[in-house]
Amino acid sequence: MTRETRFTRQLGIDLPLICGAMYPCSNPELVAAASAAGAIGIVQPVSLTFVHGHEFRAGLRLIKNLTSRPFGMNALIEKSSRHYHERLVRWVDVALEEGVRFFITSLGNPRWVVDRAAQAGAIVYHDVTERKWADKGLAGGVKGLIAVNRRAGGHAGPSSAEELLEELGPLGVPLICAGGIGDPAEFAAALRMGYAGAQLGTRFIATPECHASTAYKEAILRASEADIVLSERITGVPVAVIRTPFVERMGLKAGPIARWMLRGRRTKHWMRTIYALKSLWQLKKASLDESGERDYWQAGKSAGKITSIEPAGEIVRRFAERAAERERSTASS
Ligand SMILES: Cc1cc2nc3c(=O)[nH]c(=O)nc-3n(C[C@H](O)[C@H](O)[C@H](O)COP(=O)(O)O)c2cc1C
Repeated sequence: MTRETRFTRQLGIDLPLICGAMYPCSNPELVAAASAAGAIGIVQPVSLTFVHGHEFRAGLRLIKNLTSRPFGMNALIEKSSRHYHERLVRWVDVALEEGVRFFITSLGNPRWVVDRAAQAGAIVYHDVTERKWADKGLAGGVKGLIAVNRRAGGHAGPSSAEELLEELGPLGVPLICAGGIGDPAEFAAALRMGYAGAQLGTRFIATPECHASTAYKEAILRASEADIVLSERITGVPVAVIRTPFVERMGLKAGPIARWMLRGRRTKHWMRTIYALKSLWQLKKASLDESGERDYWQAGKSAGKITSIEPAGEIVRRFAERAAERERSTASS
């Protein structure tokens, strides 16, 4: 079943649906399952290597063994560490060698990724939460934008999906709605609004293919929208997490020393590095821990609409069906 938009035509996929990159929840089996069903899965390189233990190229080859359909890669291009930047350049090159033709960049200036990708005929979309980042991304040559709204899992933005569409629509490139989509009706609504596609994260954690713990998946099924809160304690900027006893104990705001360091021009980089290293460990442990004691779980407001663990391919099929139904009813009215 296909549902064409500018986005699906650019990528050669059936349905304008992205299984978004998720640290620590993106494992190769999940990425492959979303792509095999006609959507597109996105590799998160740190999750692939550090959390799930694959050598980078071997991890990509594992996905290619599971599906011949396209999949993409997330490149978080903040240049806070030279070591990380050099590694990311290698990952982008290996991904291109292995046939990846779609990249989603986050933070920073995407120009170097766009230039490398263009040589192989690959395209780049950029994650944005507001107009100024969109302008920067487009100046760097990206072909589309992932509009991250305030209901998203991960680092949420300040605006609603409607506000982002209004703010970014005039830029004339395909816009993908990221945040708050947990069921087929919300997917169809985003397409109806004018988005060229949707990026989902939380919905795909509650699947058998995702290697997150059962305790984490069940917490998503139990959570209502009101249980999703923004915590500054993970990375220093607000991240959407499920309100659990552990999160309540820790509080949601950064501590006084961290806040003071985040304000300083030099100290802010150290503090971000400390946060980044600490959070990589914490989130990895929490997502895989079956005891459920480390209940420190990221999820977006879409959790409110997620009521069962179901295979990624089944999710894609249900979403496709609803989008096609909508198309038929629009055509006959
Ligand atoms: C657990 C989790 C981890 C995430 N990690 C990343 C990441 O590493 N890079 C990224 O670009 N987006 C990340 N995101 C954002 C997702 O790719 C996607 O945009 C978002 O989840 C959409 O909102 P939803 O969860 O309501 O569907 C993450 C989201 C979640 C839930």
